[in-house]
Amino acid sequence: MTAVGQPLSRIDGRLKVTGRARYSGDVPVADALHAVIVHSRIAHGRTLSIDARAAERSPGVVAVFTHETMPRIGPAPWRWSPKHPTGQYHHPLQNDEIHYAGQPVALVVARSAVEAEFAGTLVDVVYEELPFRRFDDSAIADAVEVGTPQEDGRKVPARLYWETSSSVGSADTAIANAAVRIRQDYSTSDRHHNQMEPHHTLAVWGSDDCLTLYDTTQNVSGVQGLVAIVLDMAPERVRIVAPFLGGGFGGKAYVWPHTILAAVAARSLRQPVRLELSRAQMYSMAGHQPMTLQQVSLGADVDGRLVGIRHDSVSPTPPFEDYIEYAGNASRSLWAASGGIATHHRVARVHRNTPSPMRAPHEAVGLFALESAMDELAYETGIDPLALRLLNDTQIDPLSNRPFSTRRLDTCITEGARRFGWDRRRAEPRSMRDGQYLVGQGMAGAIYTAWRWPAQARVTLRSDGSALVESGMHDIGTGTYTVMRQVAADALGLAPDMVAVQLGDTRMPASHPAAGSATMSNAGASVLLASIAARDKAIALAISGRNAPFATASASEIIAGGGRLMPGSGAPGIGYADLLARNGLSSLVGEGDYKPVDEVKGPRAVFSFAAVFVEVRVDPDLGLVRLSRVTAMYDAGRTINPKTARSQAVGGIIWGAGQALLEKSEIDPLLGRFVNRNYSGYLVPSNADIPDLDIGFVGEFDSEASPTGAKGLGEVTGAGVAPAIANAVFHATGRRIRDLPITIEKLL
Ligand code: MOS
Repeated sequence: MTAVGQPLSRIDGRLKVTGRARYSGDVPVADALHAVIVHSRIAHGRTLSIDARAAERSPGVVAVFTHETMPRIGPAPWRWSPKHPTGQYHHPLQNDEIHYAGQPVALVVARSAVEAEFAGTLVDVVYEELPFRRFDDSAIADAVEVGTPQEDGRKVPARLYWETSSSVGSADTAIANAAVRIRQDYSTSDRHHNQMEPHHTLAVWGSDDCLTLYDTTQNVSGVQGLVAIVLDMAPERVRIVAPFLGGGFGGKAYVWPHTILAAVAARSLRQPVRLELSRAQMYSMAGHQPMTLQQVSLGADVDGRLVGIRHDSVSPTPPFEDYIEYAGNASRSLWAASGGIATHHRVARVHRNTPSPMRAPHEAVGLFALESAMDELAYETGIDPLALRLLNDTQIDPLSNRPFSTRRLDTCITEGARRFGWDRRRAEPRSMRDGQYLVGQGMAGAIYTAWRWPAQARVTLRSDGSALVESGMHDIGTGTYTVMRQVAADALGLAPDMVAVQLGDTRMPASHPAAGSATMSNAGASVLLASIAARDKAIALAISGRNAPFATASASEIIAGGGRLMPGSGAPGIGYADLLARNGLSSLVGEGDYKPVDEVKGPRAVFSFAAVFVEVRVDPDLGLVRLSRVTAMYDAGRTINPKTARSQAVGGIIWGAGQALLEKSEIDPLLGRFVNRNYSGYLVPSNADIPDLDIGFVGEFDSEASPTGAKGLGEVTGAGVAPAIANAVFHATGRRIRDLPITIEKLL
């Protein structure tokens, strides 16, 4: 029996529920000072003066830094990389400019957090206010296509390699000449990650001028890389530690200003500095999912076959950034359209903090529009929404004209429909009732990008016969400790509990961000390669080492299993402990260095897929939407652990339900700031909002995606949920809501 495929419980589950898992904020450092950020109340302008005298005299205060006293910080490289993942390109406290409300303007450092926080209220800032731009009609009219032309002709922004626009065939002509046309505007709201664990950095400088950051990050290697650049240090002198994370969702995959400020303050004061963002500051200086305005045009034959797709989007970005929410990305590859597919993204430069990817970035935002439009096309043509999807399914990626590595979307759709009981659905809107409630059933397809990033790992066989896996990867709540154990256990032929896993430290082999649903395909591959390397070294010892047990065997005959190496002949095997002892070794180390093929150049296009079926009950008097059933089927390649995989899907579906029905961050039009300050003003689903979820996996081993056979899972589970809900609401009520979230007032 292999470990992979077993529903193993999390290694770290007990540590977490007993409070013994040590998060960044739990690391005890006796003499650590506490820093608090004072942030701007205006959205645009500059500081004329900052009077810190009262704060400096306040009890416990050690220092107050402003742009006049903060040491200089070097620029971040404009071309973004997972190796130096800039969150925000503008370093605060370097000059008097204010670009967004909530921007840091001072840093107060005191002996306790309470003293720092109180002193922060005494910092007196005089501003020169300038008119600010918000994401309104005039800013949208001035929206531009950003990006720099590349050598290969693609035009891409600094942050992603995706082209800002795409065009295959002649979409507009095909749509103009189509028998059936749908053209609609859709919009999504600003949302925040709302991780339960606030962003936190503890900066400790050693006597040897080496820096250690205990940081709430999804990317230790990236924090190390960027901090080394902006502080002009050798990366080896920067250590980042993050063994556990209390929620990331993309918001902790980047280096935000507070991390750099903590490091600089600690160096300047020659004492450790702890900096935690307040709950309110979580809304203003560490990323968010930007709102989008999208337009989707579909052209189809009378029988529903797509001839053209156009998907355009505009989203806000700060004056100093080129962050794009690629809402059109999913439309490039989900459905075939014989005449062509075009997408286009523009950004409007406004005074707000930097947006960032947030769980199922790009696709989950854009799929709301695309899959709502597909539902509208289904009603326009009178074709069942499910049949319409199957009709336009494809095994060739329309964007790159490459075959998909594996694509079982059709199975997701047909199997999901069977489990959901789609055949009992009546097509007519408002035709299904349950007492006073209108019942609606809707579905959507989903696609999610596969990232291919290099990763390294180390596997050490130890003298007691156990193994240690080390990787600069993270468990962001997804179960990474557990699934890495499973992968290594099978390759080494060990029982899972003989494999220990350590993650989240730059002293371990460098990996990639725990983001983009890339962990199992890439970091997992490095663990697999390292395990195989360690096992092969052991096999070599068994053949030609001291007192070799299989001296006459060839390496290919020897298999690992049941905690032993065994020759094909059936002779008794040997355990790793015995083998190491015979050779006088205390350990045997295997290194894994995974170098995947480039995303664009690989022979096949790799994506994950899903089909989501939703039933809602709508109270026609109150406009209240309740989810009553969800069936979701996923093609995410090989499932490593059905239990943690299901947990990912549960989280993703709830995440999508929040997007569909509840989540919206509000910007005050007069003050230009996010008015959300805590969870009381930002609605997320609670247990009572979520029915039982029926979740299934139909993926197969995908060797192009990864030697582990796995494709990305975490984020495709958050995609396709919102349009399925919106389509179910239409089916229940006859009302098509094209702006998320679908709130009561929009339905009444
Ligand atoms: Mo995810 S938004 O790539 O952490």
